[in-house]
Amino acid sequence: MALDNLREMLAEIERIGELVRIAEPVRTRLEIAEIADRVMKSPGGGPALLFEHPLLDDGSRSPMPVAINLFGSMRRICLALGCERLDDIGGRISELLELKVPDGLFGKLAMLPKLAEIAKFPPRVKGGRPPCQEVVQRGDEVNLDGIPFLTTWPGDGGRYITLPMVITADPERGTRNVGMYRIQVLGRNTLAMHWQRHKVGAAHWRAMAARGERMPVVIALGGDPASIYSGSAPLPPTIDEFIFAGFLRRAPVELAKAVSSDLDVPAEAELVIEGYIDPAEPLVREGPFGDHTGFYSLADDYPLVRVTAVTMRRDPIYPATLVGRPPMEDYYLGHATERIFLPLLRLTVPEIVDYHMPAPGIFHNLVFVSIDKQYPGQAWKVMHALWGQGLMALAKVLVVVDREVNVQDPDEAWWIALNNIDPERDVRFTMGPMDVLDHSSRAFTYGSKMGIDATRKWKEEGFDREWPDLIRMDEATRRRVDELWPRLGIGLRPPRPN
Ligand SMILES: Cc1cc2nc3c(=O)[nH]c(=O)nc-3n(C[C@H](O)[C@H](O)[C@H](O)COP(=O)(O)O)c2cc1C
Repeated sequence: MALDNLREMLAEIERIGELVRIAEPVRTRLEIAEIADRVMKSPGGGPALLFEHPLLDDGSRSPMPVAINLFGSMRRICLALGCERLDDIGGRISELLELKVPDGLFGKLAMLPKLAEIAKFPPRVKGGRPPCQEVVQRGDEVNLDGIPFLTTWPGDGGRYITLPMVITADPERGTRNVGMYRIQVLGRNTLAMHWQRHKVGAAHWRAMAARGERMPVVIALGGDPASIYSGSAPLPPTIDEFIFAGFLRRAPVELAKAVSSDLDVPAEAELVIEGYIDPAEPLVREGPFGDHTGFYSLADDYPLVRVTAVTMRRDPIYPATLVGRPPMEDYYLGHATERIFLPLLRLTVPEIVDYHMPAPGIFHNLVFVSIDKQYPGQAWKVMHALWGQGLMALAKVLVVVDREVNVQDPDEAWWIALNNIDPERDVRFTMGPMDVLDHSSRAFTYGSKMGIDATRKWKEEGFDREWPDLIRMDEATRRRVDELWPRLGIGLRPPRPN
């Protein structure tokens, strides 16, 4: 059954034994972050934490508990997305992509359940007062100071919203976007919106600024976990994240009208901040911020959000995350994207067998790709294709290996890759857009990329030497040793080597 909101998610996490409630008062300034960092670095990602008595900067207790690390284990990310394994979602997407109208009446009838599943996805706008508007504050009533936003690292520019759904609309097409962008709290009713230039929210803002119009924006906290995840997914600009979330959860997302603009808000959110950006106002300084690179992102200029209303449940729970030196909770959100998008990548690059973005590569720094190589130069073809796909364009290093290499195991991928390359022959540099967070590129968001062709080299690729076989024990010996093992006195049987 789909989880509809944060409290259902917390109850489910508690049921599976992955929630720790913390009754001790803990400061929102740095202390929650330090505790969460230690927990997130523990094997498997550690439990989710609910801080029941967060202490605000003025020393007072906030009545709003802080939930953190909700998505930070394989079990919890699956629970959030309503699946047993993340690859099951990829499987559902593959099925949809392969839908062909079959011949014959029976074949067509068999398709109906699948089509009905798609028809159920669109979000529904609810009438009446939604849970997220049980309390409504407008104008001068708004005071963000009382909300337990976290300061996560000592060098941060201030308090930050770290796990939001930022909702905007394309002024020309009217399409909606939901993006997860951090937001700095500047004052009692002002914020700085850190949407990076390659992101859809930033494109909406550029379009609004070109028209000279005020841009309404909604920042929703909490709601159904599939929607929260969808904000972090690099969907094409024309796809509404709430439809995608509906597909993931197999149930529509409930929306409601915002109280101060025409945008819709997730009805089940805990807390919603409504506001606008006026292109006539100057940008404001945002940052520095201890980022998911493990370094501080430097301060820069971003749009100012003026808050028009804050709405919430009567007893809201504030959801947050912490980024910093990997691995952190965001690894699980990104890993879900990796798995879910595999069939979509294969649509245009069908030779891809698998790919993986290991945690230390923080998604855009390193991508391993295994391919079913059928012709010379195919690894280069795959690299060029990937550098042309959505946010994959920001990938700094691509390493392509043959199909049998398990790219989910970075040790195996590096072992094979480093064995297989003649660096001068197999490494190429090219130029392209770089992630906003890359601090090493020669210019802001522009720099070089490295492609490594670590596939086995063919004669047609100019390789005239003999290529050796991998070492593997023969199956008969392995079976014999399996039988012998209990009598050897070594104890626990280690797994068979690959
Ligand atoms: C915890 C977390 C924090 C993020 N912070 C930002 C951010 O501050 N700015 C940004 O542009 N992207 C940020 N991202 C990445 C975006 O959420 C991601 O690129 C997403 O695809 C953006 O949505 P869009 O494609 O609709 O723009 C963050 C992702 C996560 C998981």
